[in-house]
Amino acid sequence: MTAITIKNLVVSRGDSKVLQSISFEVQPGSVYALLGGNGAGKSTSLLTLLGFLKPDSGSVTVLGHDVTKDIAKIRHTIAYLPEAATLYPHLNAYENLSYFLELAGNKKTRAELDTALDEVGLQVDARARHMDNYSKGMRQKVAIALSILRETPVLLLDEPTSGLDPVAIDEFNALVRKLSGQGKTILMVTHDVYGACQVADRIGLLRRGELVGSFDAQAGARIDTEIVHAAFAERAAA
Ligand SMILES: Nc1ncnc2c1ncn2[C@@H]1O[C@H](COP(=O)(O)OP(=O)(O)OP(=O)(O)O)[C@@H](O)[C@H]1O
Ligand SMILES: [Mg+2]
Repeated sequence: MTAITIKNLVVSRGDSKVLQSISFEVQPGSVYALLGGNGAGKSTSLLTLLGFLKPDSGSVTVLGHDVTKDIAKIRHTIAYLPEAATLYPHLNAYENLSYFLELAGNKKTRAELDTALDEVGLQVDARARHMDNYSKGMRQKVAIALSILRETPVLLLDEPTSGLDPVAIDEFNALVRKLSGQGKTILMVTHDVYGACQVADRIGLLRRGELVGSFDAQAGARIDTEIVHAAFAERAAA
């Protein structure tokens, strides 16, 4: 069974068709990067997978569940990192994580929170400080930690590396590969060609709501950045 199956999906927002009959599959334990420019429809795709937007036509299934019928089941299997994750500035990292995990019915010990914060590389001395004096990258690390701590089989990540510096991006990429190695299915959307090539087993190129190309990692090698960049630039100019 595929982890995520999107078939002939059409989604409108307002008067415009934002997704124009896109189809792709994500295999269990793999990393799929949906790559596209601003306004291509990346976030719309994730919102449809979460049941927040209704398809005009086509189908969306997650681990065999149909998004229009079994949304409660689907939401238990998915952790979602939104494009602009909002955490409470007057709470510290531990308090934010505990609060949102409890809302999701998922209590964790301080040691478990520290393990996740270690994995995303948030400095130890910042963890008990209110998040209102965090940098954007530090806030993003806590948001990523939260999605890992949900311990769901599927992760949907919207621009996860936005705001991270190159070292933090490398750490994030290594973490994504590790999670995939543990069997998690990861669908991330990004406009970062380099980052997508570093982590993805497959890249789908989205342009104005249409899937116009796909690229696969070959055994033992990552996807070639130059090839994808050229396709991205060419398609964007077309
Ligand atoms: N709430 C909305 N109502 C109507 N149209 C919307 C709404 N949100 C987004 N759109 C339109 O849908 C299209 C796709 O938007 P979407 O947010 O999915 O793009 P994206 O690929 O995530 O872009 P970005 O890289 O900027 O995050 C855009 O043309 C946008 O104008
Ligand atoms: Mg977006």
